[in-house]
Parts: sequence; C-alpha cells; structure tokens
Amino acid sequence: MSAMVSYEDAIDRMTTLCMRKLDEFAKEKRLIAIPNFMQFYAWDVIGEITFDQNFGMMENMGDTQGVISEIHTANNNMARLGLLPALQKPYRILEKLIFGGHPMARVINYVTSQCQKHRDSNTGAKMKSQYNTFLRKILELEAAHKVEMKNVFDACGSNIGAGSDTTGITLSAAIYYLYRNPDKLAKLREEIDTMTSNGLISDPVTYHQAKDMPYLNAVIKETLRIHPAVGTILPRIVPKGGMTLGGYYFLEGTHVGTNAWPLHYSEAVYGPDADQYRPERWLEDKSDFEYRDSMMFAFGGGSRTCIGRNITLLEMTKFLPQIVRKIDFKFEDREKPWDRSCSFLVYPSYKCWVDLRENKDQK
Ligand code: HEM
Repeated sequence: MSAMVSYEDAIDRMTTLCMRKLDEFAKEKRLIAIPNFMQFYAWDVIGEITFDQNFGMMENMGDTQGVISEIHTANNNMARLGLLPALQKPYRILEKLIFGGHPMARVINYVTSQCQKHRDSNTGAKMKSQYNTFLRKILELEAAHKVEMKNVFDACGSNIGAGSDTTGITLSAAIYYLYRNPDKLAKLREEIDTMTSNGLISDPVTYHQAKDMPYLNAVIKETLRIHPAVGTILPRIVPKGGMTLGGYYFLEGTHVGTNAWPLHYSEAVYGPDADQYRPERWLEDKSDFEYRDSMMFAFGGGSRTCIGRNITLLEMTKFLPQIVRKIDFKFEDREKPWDRSCSFLVYPSYKCWVDLRENKDQK
C-alpha cells in the first residue's frame, strides 16, 4: 500500500473532476444512472494511474473510445463460454467471421498505442505530471531488460480490463447501500464531519488521514461482502494425486471453485443477518473477526488473488468520504430496489437525482 499512495495525485485529479460533474448535475436537476457514472469515474482513474491519461468518459459522459462496450461483450461471452467450454473453439471461429478481427481490438489498440507513445517519449519523461505512473514504473523495467514490451502491454491491459468495471461496480454498491440506509449514512457523515471540524482531514482527503477511520473501513468491507463484483466461480484445478476438500475426494484435473456470493451470504459464517447490510458487524463482535475476514472472497484467494486490491482500496478510501461529506443522492424510485444483472460481473442499475449537501466544512 505504501507504493500505491504514489497514485493519490491521479485519484485526486479525477475526484475533483467527478465533483465538478456532480455539481453540474445538481444544477441541471438531471437524473443520473449512478452505476454508469461510477464506471466512467473508475475508467478515468485507472487511465490516469496507468498512463497519466484519462479516457474523457466523465467529461463527455460516455464511452468515448468504445472500450466499455468491448469489455462488456468479452465479459458476457467469457461467462457463457466458461459454463460451456466445448463451445469455445467454434465460437472463436464465428467471432472472427463476425468481428473480422479481434473482439477487443479497440482496447488492445488503445493500450498498445499509449505504451508505445510513452516509451518513444523516453520512458515517460514527457508525461504531464511528475508522479510515478504504473506505465513509467514498468517501462523502467523494460529499459533495464527485465521485462519485454509484450509484458508492458499485458500488465497495462490487465489494469484496464480488471480494474475498471470492478471498481465502478463496488463504488456504485457503496453509494446504493449507504443512501438507502440513512442511519448508516448518518454514522459515516458524523465520523467525517467530526474529523473535519477537528482539523484531522483535508479536502480532498488523503489516504493517510482516511485509512484509520473505523466506520469508513467497515462500510468498505461490508460493501465488498454484500456485493462482490465478481459473480461467478473462480476455478482452480485439482493438482496431481487428487485431493480431499470438505470431506469429498476430487480426482486430479477436476475443476473446483467457489463463488463469493454464497460464501458471503452464508449464515454459518456471518450470522442470521448475513443478507442485511450492516457495517457494524465489522466493529462489534471482534471475537471471530479473523474467521469472518478470512471468508471474504471479493478479491478471490490464494496465489491468483486480485493484484489490484490495494489500488481499489486506495480509490474507495479516498473517494467515499468526499462523496458522503458533499453530496446527497435521491433515488428515482425510493420504494423500488435496484436491478442487478450477472454475467461474469454483477452489474447494478439505478438512477438518482444529485443534490449538494449543506457545506459542513464551513461550520
Ligand atoms: C473492487 C475492485 C476489484 C475486485 C472486486 C476485484 C476482484 C478480483 C478477483 C475476484 C480476481 C480473481 C482472483 C482469484 O481468482 O482468486 C481478480 C484478479 C485480478 N485483478 Fe482484481 N478486482 C478489483 C480491482 C482490481 C484493480 C483496480 C486491478 C488493477 C489495477 C485489478 C487487477 C487484477 C488482476 C491483474 C487480476 C489477475 C491476477 C492473477 O490472475 O494472477 N483488480 N480481481
């Protein structure tokens, strides 16, 4: 995490832009599809962190490069073909005929052109800010012949593909659950407002200031528990000799795995209110905290666990206090719960009007 904080500057720039847009929406009294907007935010942040170049999605309120639609199609197909692996080969052939090229051509072109541009401009020396972008760090490795250019493309592409929608979905879930539960929102606001009036947090909040806020941390944890972004099994292959898991013997080569959703909603682990949003569960009963924590599977587990976890935690820890201290969201339909659709990721859908909150910082 200490290495991750070099990305704070990028997050602050995008959060400032996000707040300006929210201000505009409030003035225009515009109904906003929050998950779409959070997706634009997450894509712009990961663009800035990786390349020092956002996608212009928030500014233009749209998928400016057509990359989101490509990733969605890929995710949907991956989820279906994951269930029907025998269809993979024929589908790939069909896909080539339909798309006439790679189905992720726009994403690949974007990533490779950014990487090449910065390499040609002397390992990122001409980047507009001086902070250490992800690309700059990895280009230094490439200059030292420790990795090849294809690894640079791959690492940056993974950031974009794996770190955008996942973060956008989690931020949308955090906003949904907080603003649907005014008592929880009030508790978080109290924590933030008290720290603000005691001069303990700045505007924007730094990671160092926010990282020890107990209720904020509980909100983030509970959001990841109640709405893990990945909605499918994360498979592993049983190694040579087979193995016994939970009392069952599995032959070597068998695909086994678990899905975060049933695990996170397990009453045996999280108690009879496992289906309720209750950040307090992470603060009250400390006795089996480690056990409950070890069952959290939003970032997967083991050797292939999410390697972007700290980037996303940095984003959430800095972003949520800014939103909560300044913005009110009013749901289009207070009675109706949100819609969710699952392919590989579990996409939420809801709309809100945006209002500026009375400025507590001035008090
Ligand atoms: C809330 C946000 C995020 C969630 C919920 C999430 C979730 C996950 C999950 C479930 C996995 C699979 C782990 C497994 O199989 O055990 C994964 C892998 C991965 N994630 Fe994330 N992720 C998030 C954010 C990010 C970010 C911001 C980045 C990059 C900047 C990122 C990069 C990756 C990469 C590269 C992998 C593959 C790791 C490997 O196969 O070794 N993720 N993520």
